[in-house]
Amino acid sequence: MQSHYPRLSLWGRSSECGVLDRVVAEPRAGRSQVLVLRGEAGIGKTALLDYLAAEASGCRLVRTAGIESEMELAYAGLHQFCASMLGGLERLPDPQRNALGVAFGRRVGAAPDRFMVGLAVLGLLSEAAEEHPQVCLVDDAQWLDQASAEILAFVARRLLAERVALVFAVRDGGDSKLLPGLPELTVRGLPNGAARALLGAMIHGPLDGRVIDRIMGETRGNPLGVDRAHARAEPRAAGRRLRATRLDAAGQRHRAEIPSAL
Ligand SMILES: Nc1ncnc2c1ncn2[C@@H]1O[C@H](COP(=O)(O)OP(=O)(O)OP(=O)(O)O)[C@@H](O)[C@H]1O
Ligand SMILES: [Mg+2]
Repeated sequence: MQSHYPRLSLWGRSSECGVLDRVVAEPRAGRSQVLVLRGEAGIGKTALLDYLAAEASGCRLVRTAGIESEMELAYAGLHQFCASMLGGLERLPDPQRNALGVAFGRRVGAAPDRFMVGLAVLGLLSEAAEEHPQVCLVDDAQWLDQASAEILAFVARRLLAERVALVFAVRDGGDSKLLPGLPELTVRGLPNGAARALLGAMIHGPLDGRVIDRIMGETRGNPLGVDRAHARAEPRAAGRRLRATRLDAAGQRHRAEIPSAL
């Protein structure tokens, strides 16, 4: 199964990409793996999920995201997550099928038992994983409705020998910690050398060294921050922004510009 996502090289993320390579190797080897990517806005969580998606060839990719405007809609996120697996619904035991059916508005009934809903989702995933290893990516988990977040955390804690990798990206912040008790990778700012190289790739004309130092200090390696600061420092070069520095299959021209140590 070919991934539809282009292969990406990211600035300064060799160790994180190494972790993600191991994550995606697990379902291929017949095991499950869970990971929560946690970090501030713009730090590169979605970019790392993109990397994982591009590396997921041979696996079925299930990619969803929390949607801020749907946070009050119970099970909206879970519905999106399960959409490609609903063919297995009829083969679930009755109590699980009923619970999920009610949660997804396919049946009428009292508010479903969350335990049953969780078991149903586990059942759907296990069945899907019997056919193909699954790589499931849930971006912006901070915007999942509460019911979906709870069920997905339940599922993540109970995955055993299923061929499933389940990776969440969560923006830091808020009071309560979302998805507690799961393995985590904190996504931090790019190392200084990589952040400087990223900025260097954006700069069109000469930029004062003091301006560069100021941008480095202000943005602390946040790629989105570097992009925005660059746009302010060099507004006329806005055409050559961050997007041009992200590498993809069509961007071979830039690939050689990244020193392998970054
Ligand atoms: N290592 C990197 N090299 C180059 N560009 C990057 C890198 N990481 C992220 N970017 C770019 O920086 C921008 C912000 O990254 P991204 O959207 O992944 O952040 P995020 O952590 O998902 O933010 P949010 O919490 O708002 O969803 C994007 O344009 C992305 O392509
Ligand atoms: Mg994101």
